[in-house]
Amino acid sequence: MNKTSVSNNDWNSNLYQEKHAFVWHYGENLLQLLNPQSKERILDLGCGTGQLTAKIAEKGAEVIGIDSAPEMIEKARQNYPQLHFQVADARNFQLSHPVDAVFSNAVLHWIPQADNVINSIRKSLKIGGRLIVEFGGKGNIESIIKVLYKALEKIGIDSAPNLNPWYFPSIGEYASKLEKQGFEVTYSHLFSRPTLLQDKDAGLANWIKMFAANFFKGLSEEEKMVVINDVEKQLKPKLYQESNWFADYRRIQIKAIKK
Ligand code: BEZ
Repeated sequence: MNKTSVSNNDWNSNLYQEKHAFVWHYGENLLQLLNPQSKERILDLGCGTGQLTAKIAEKGAEVIGIDSAPEMIEKARQNYPQLHFQVADARNFQLSHPVDAVFSNAVLHWIPQADNVINSIRKSLKIGGRLIVEFGGKGNIESIIKVLYKALEKIGIDSAPNLNPWYFPSIGEYASKLEKQGFEVTYSHLFSRPTLLQDKDAGLANWIKMFAANFFKGLSEEEKMVVINDVEKQLKPKLYQESNWFADYRRIQIKAIKK
């Protein structure tokens, strides 16, 4: 996804599915950490258009996918009509029956209210159930953010940090939040993963238009393009190689058990 619980619904689910497939391709690695077993009940939190939900189901698990964006859920249902998908807010959802595992890929950095999300997850898990998550960790897209702030400042927008919608915690910060709510963290890893953006020269501009829209609210198309062109110019020496853009992603992976 995935953008569970993010209020703006300006993501185009077709564009997301066609141009940002790297989101779930990388997520396949997280599936190994989940290691879904036949007959287990598993929640895919922030399922987006459902690709990883379907991979979990292929292992014989009974899986439900939730996402806050109705258009993502609509697309997920079209893609996988045999699976169960529901619109729900990660900060405040309830399941009718507790699950063996909660899985979430590339979602939690969209939700600064981490304590509320952890509380909902805790309530939805069985005792002994596991939480397996990956999302943007401390230092994620640091150079993109820095340059974006500067480019916005140049056109008179000084408030860019207040428009930042993302939450990129350290391992220590996130693990202590989990521990406070009765989880035992059994695995954590923070690592750099430069990520190839599709569409060659247009990769960074596409990424900004899709994921950084919050910074451009109220700006004209022309102002937006001035900022994007400036960001591209400043980042080219660092993030552009052999006709491709690479985002400076840093991921955090965590496995935690509900005690
Ligand atoms: C991420 O997956 O790290 C990410 C995606 C979009 C915006 C910010 C971060």
